[in-house]
Amino acid sequence: MEEEKSTVSRRQFLTYTLMGVGGFMAAGVTTPMIRAALDPLLKSKQNGGMVAVVQAKEITTEPQKKDFKIKQVDGWYESEATQSAWIYQDENDEYVALSPICKHLGCTVNWNGDSQNPNKFYCPCHGGMYTKDGINVKGTPPLAPLDQYELEVKDGTIYLGAAKARGGA
Ligand code: FES
Repeated sequence: MEEEKSTVSRRQFLTYTLMGVGGFMAAGVTTPMIRAALDPLLKSKQNGGMVAVVQAKEITTEPQKKDFKIKQVDGWYESEATQSAWIYQDENDEYVALSPICKHLGCTVNWNGDSQNPNKFYCPCHGGMYTKDGINVKGTPPLAPLDQYELEVKDGTIYLGAAKARGGA
């Protein structure tokens, strides 16, 4: 009785060996590249938290500018950035936090910044104006309301999140 031999030719052996080594090397090269590409995306989700900014009892119906620091991640680089918000309590006793960044070309708006136009946010760069609730005044350069921060009050402290655009008019 003849036994059937399972043989692998020299050519097949070399082909399998090279495929195995090549695949292992390719995985070694591509895995860190894929991880590096995805890592900033994964990290940015961790930065979506709210930041404690001010004690609620300090806030009145008059808008006050408050600065606060946020952590930002740019690829592998982590840093702190200072942001500002105009915060006040509206007629329904709700807290409102508006971005001070003008929607025209990005200058900083000030509450009551123009004596000719009281009770308005005023942008000194090109005379942009916004009502107290951040709505752009028609006939002035900005075409959209000031962005509004996500806001949460917890244990007497006001926390702010991301500033959200409110569309244009
Ligand atoms: S940047 Fe504010 S009006 Fe132009």
